[in-house]
Amino acid sequence: MRRKVIAGNWKMNMLPDEAIKFIDDLAPLVKDVDAEVIICAPYTDLFYCLNYAQDTNIHIGAQNMHYEEKGAFTGEVSPQMLKAIGVEYVIIGHSERRQYYNETDETVNKKLKAAFEVGLKPIVCVGESLEQREAGKAEEIITNQTRLALDGLTNDQVKATIIAYEPIWAIGTGKTATSEDANNAIKAIRAEVARIYGEEVAEEIIIQYGGSVKSSNAKELFTTSDIDGGLVGGASLKPDEFSKIVRYNEQ
Ligand code: PGA
Repeated sequence: MRRKVIAGNWKMNMLPDEAIKFIDDLAPLVKDVDAEVIICAPYTDLFYCLNYAQDTNIHIGAQNMHYEEKGAFTGEVSPQMLKAIGVEYVIIGHSERRQYYNETDETVNKKLKAAFEVGLKPIVCVGESLEQREAGKAEEIITNQTRLALDGLTNDQVKATIIAYEPIWAIGTGKTATSEDANNAIKAIRAEVARIYGEEVAEEIIIQYGGSVKSSNAKELFTTSDIDGGLVGGASLKPDEFSKIVRYNEQ
């Protein structure tokens, strides 16, 4: 039985004082939940979040990193830097990074390997555009992205990877994939993992859904056969709303 993993992706939001207040407010609301609760914060909030989440069940992640350890990469942050301050998770290959910052399947793969080298847990994003979906190519796009992202990882590393299926047309638009469509897309991703790494790995790997997840649709999405939780953007900015998503099974 796979555990649910529910991660907030704050994107470029939250000043340190807001981040601290958020963690303080969220902690009592999600105490003792079964799901793994993760907040992926901007770099400038990470240290504060880590400190304030210390004695809670809230885990902290970054939203990106470089794949190199160090060097002349002005403005970049390395996996080692994140690890050194105690960050546990890192989002890799979010569609906004693929779209605005030239992330490719190749850099995504390098970043996944770099994350495992230092012991960061990756949340790797895959997802099709509306155009690709309408052309009937969604499954091909997401299975390809999955294969290329995981290329060269060991079975244990694949098991420890979290995949977030995020159809681009559902991100920040209020349009959610139907739970049936999302579950089918995730089944296709799991089947691709099974084809390459075997059934055992595919049964264990956590695959989330992301794209306009909110408290009113979380239960329907997360109680399907294959959706193992969510990557939540806009609805992760309010402790009360985010806690209801984490407590989807009580809605
Ligand atoms: P959204 O974003 O929940 O605001 O649609 C999800 C994401 O981009 O991870």
